[in-house]
Amino acid sequence: MKKSTFIFFLFLSTVFSQKNELKNLKVLSYTKKSDVVKYMKVISKELGVKCSFCHVTKDYSDDKKDQKKVAREMIIMTMNANKTMKTLNFHEISCWVCHRGSNHPLHPPSKK
Ligand code: HEC
Ligand code: HEC
Repeated sequence: MKKSTFIFFLFLSTVFSQKNELKNLKVLSYTKKSDVVKYMKVISKELGVKCSFCHVTKDYSDDKKDQKKVAREMIIMTMNANKTMKTLNFHEISCWVCHRGSNHPLHPPSKK
């Protein structure tokens, strides 16, 4: 193999391995795995749970757990809420606003 061909394949393989690093992001727009993990640590704290609450931890891209599917919808809901917050010039909201460190947010007293 010519040296230039080898370098070309090396280039291709780095590009593809970086792409494949994140396999199943449907709503988050991060491109670096380290940024995804940083975000995941934040939401875990906001819900008071471990990664395994949502993930099959041998493959984080796996969507088997219902909690992960719900969380994805919750992320979309929070993003939409933040569009409204932005138009009002209010602070961004996060999972914490409702969850406050629990996977089960409190319901209003009138609706126990
Ligand atoms: C409350 C649920 C929840 C918790 C807790 C959680 N995650 Fe996630 N995680 C998700 C969701 C939802 C996605 C997919 C987001 C999307 O579709 O854009 C995801 C995606 C990921 C991905 C990307 C996988 C891929 O290749 O597609 C990684 C890596 C990841 N999480 C790591 C972690 C780690 C590490 C922790 C613990 C510190 C953690 N997650 C905790 C819900 C969670
Ligand atoms: C506007 C309030 C609100 C926000 C913001 C919110 N959630 Fe939720 N979430 C709820 C409520 C309420 C429930 C429980 C539904 C019930 O029990 O009736 C819930 C349930 C969940 C569940 C299911 C828990 C279980 O035990 O199965 C997950 C996972 C979740 N939320 C993740 C998130 C994540 C991640 C975020 C931030 C990206 C988020 N939520 C932001 C209100 C919110």
